[in-house]
Amino acid sequence: MQRIENRDVFEGEFFLPGDKSITHRAVMLNAGADGEATITNALMGEDCLSTCGCMRELGAEVKTDGTSVWVKGTPQFFSGKSLNCGNSGTTIRLLTGFVAGKGIHATLHGDPSLSSRPMKRVSQPLSLLGADVKTTDGHAPVYVAPSNLHGAKIDLEISSAQVKSAALLAGISADGETVVTEPVKSRDHTERMLSAMGADITVEGNAVRVKRSDLKALDVCVPSDISSAAYFMALGALKGKTLCKNVGINPTRVGILTAFDRLGVKYALLNKRVSGGEETADILVEKSPLCAITLTEKDVPSMIDELPLVALLCAFADGETRITGAKELRVKESDRVRTTAELINRLGGDCEELEDGFIIRGKKTLIGGDVDSYLDHRIAMTAAVGMIASQKGGVISRPECCAISFPDFFEKLGVKLS
Ligand code: S3P
Repeated sequence: MQRIENRDVFEGEFFLPGDKSITHRAVMLNAGADGEATITNALMGEDCLSTCGCMRELGAEVKTDGTSVWVKGTPQFFSGKSLNCGNSGTTIRLLTGFVAGKGIHATLHGDPSLSSRPMKRVSQPLSLLGADVKTTDGHAPVYVAPSNLHGAKIDLEISSAQVKSAALLAGISADGETVVTEPVKSRDHTERMLSAMGADITVEGNAVRVKRSDLKALDVCVPSDISSAAYFMALGALKGKTLCKNVGINPTRVGILTAFDRLGVKYALLNKRVSGGEETADILVEKSPLCAITLTEKDVPSMIDELPLVALLCAFADGETRITGAKELRVKESDRVRTTAELINRLGGDCEELEDGFIIRGKKTLIGGDVDSYLDHRIAMTAAVGMIASQKGGVISRPECCAISFPDFFEKLGVKLS
């Protein structure tokens, strides 16, 4: 249990942890590349540690030192391993595609939350490439067996970077060309990193083509994660002024800024630069009166992990917000349509669940209250923001899950740990 006091003002300059998606990919791709690489400002959250553990289990050398990771790839992966992906959807989905191309047997499994999340969305496209991937009634454990992969045209029904990446990581081990198309472009870190590592890859709109490729090791300097910065940006908008330094602003990840534009949040991108093939900036956010917004399916992929927080901001806005096309939230670490609505209502807001989103009747202010994390890191962190900005604060049950993506979240917030 963690008590969070409300505050009149929230201000400061913040260095947030490294990007989770980029850290996973830097470790996994370097583990299958020729040579050695150092990854700096890596996220050492539990999810990325799951990826490190799996790659070690498969025979790569992975050494961590603070927020640096040194990886030496292996040309020959160990077969017959049982790979524990913990709570991490990115680990299990990317790794399924990755091992499918390596000519080995592997079993991939995880915790109860991960075991409840859909895996057919990965096994189906991989079977089009000739992969031998079996799920357990559409879920983990997932069993991968050796097979010869051939290129294929894969039209994804959902926009998911995890599924797209699984297909691309198998595609680089397949004969011929693989083309993966998605309805709305999801985060493209895999495409960028594969290209920087020498893969034969081209991107045209929402279609990505890959051919069989050997990868060269790549040092990666990981920008701070906009999904982690978002909590501090939101507190700036609600309660004062915040500056988040060196945040990744890859165009496929900045949906929170689109939401800010519509909500009327005052912000500025300072000191823009490019580091390791990814754009970064310092993001300055100032307290702003918020007005209700509309978000639809095309807005969702670029803010998929920020949607609980965006919904919370809408609870502090003036007017009625409608968010639709967000059915994917139901299959995250928790059913985030249900858990987000519950969290907003428990803080004194008015949020109605839709099958694929929310209607939020903004109240400009929330009283506060007690909230369960549902063991979902994004729900715990959204709840903390809501409590700080509320009139009375509240208590979060089971807050430890923040360590999945942001181990020192409460310290950075300046909350006294109980
Ligand atoms: C991720 C993709 C997203 C996101 C997850 C990380 C990734 O999932 O929710 O936290 O690193 O590829 P989907 O691709 O399933 O939407």
